[in-house]
Amino acid sequence: MNGTQLLNNIAEIRKVAEAEIAAINTLDEASACKVKYLGKKGLVTSVLQQMRDVGAEERPKIGQEVNRLKSHLEDVLQNLQEKLNTQRLEMAVASADVDVTLPGRPRPQGALHPITRIQEEALHILRGMGFSVAEGPECETDYYNFTALNFLPDHPARDMQDTFYVGESHLLRTHTSPVQIRVMEKQKPPLAIVAPGAVYRRDADVTHSPMFHQIEGLLVDKDVRMTDLKGVLTDFLQTLFGKQFSVRFRPSFFPFTEPSTEVDIQCVFCTGKGCRICKQTGWLEIMGAGMVDPEVFKSVRYDPNEFSGFAFGMGLERMAMLKYHINDIRLFFESDLRFLKQFIGRGA
Ligand code: DAH
Repeated sequence: MNGTQLLNNIAEIRKVAEAEIAAINTLDEASACKVKYLGKKGLVTSVLQQMRDVGAEERPKIGQEVNRLKSHLEDVLQNLQEKLNTQRLEMAVASADVDVTLPGRPRPQGALHPITRIQEEALHILRGMGFSVAEGPECETDYYNFTALNFLPDHPARDMQDTFYVGESHLLRTHTSPVQIRVMEKQKPPLAIVAPGAVYRRDADVTHSPMFHQIEGLLVDKDVRMTDLKGVLTDFLQTLFGKQFSVRFRPSFFPFTEPSTEVDIQCVFCTGKGCRICKQTGWLEIMGAGMVDPEVFKSVRYDPNEFSGFAFGMGLERMAMLKYHINDIRLFFESDLRFLKQFIGRGA
């Protein structure tokens, strides 16, 4: 083939290719066309090979023509592929079930349960005062729950009416006080511990739940006095509820403390003026406390002449009801999201 024929050939390939490309509708056709003209065995490539047959003086011109054709076809096919690709995406979006222009749906935010929250707040304050956290089992023996705490054999709390028994020898602890015994059996004074946890009683109404939570406290050392108890508990309650509320101590009775006291805080709803919740007294009962009874020290072989201590116990449901203004204890255990959602981002 001579030079002129080859140039005609190139012009012919360009004409046919352009007509073919103009008729292309799909990406598959476009890539097939690319192979047909520009591939290793493609038509443009074969023209380059035929150049070997023409005279040296004609070659540069033909070479130039082939290269122009080659880059022209590359450009045209590249643009076509981009156009077809965009069209395909637009069609996919238009025909799909998802509307990608819709704003995202926010995931619901979780919150700590108010009992968890009040427990963390209380423990945070108590840790700051030097108490460390201890734990004990929820399923206890009669010895730890009652006997070692100086409950007499016929004490009414031991009655089946008040306590959940588990078989002959075990029961569900009715308070966190047995943790006092377990800690003192293992540790020698001085010690200062707080023990949070679930407790159980056969009781259910607006202010009582068969399962509820307490925090127990115990501090034992030489020369611990009632004034230490009063100072620590006043400080604790005023940190939790606010300095504006006074704290008072009333004489009371518990088998494991002597003397015993009931601790009241000024009503957090009416600031002591008197309202329905404090039954017009201006005060709310918030915990029990007292100096550890020498009989309790004897059960753990501590010498009551050498050591003294104080103990306290409080109900977390009651504290949370007062702090977060909740009027029915059952709300804590119903897992109603409308209730729980109110505690998102509050407190602690
Ligand atoms: N355990 C008592 C109860 O559940 C609360 C209590 C009172 C705990 C006085 C104490 C205390 O440690 O000293 O009613």
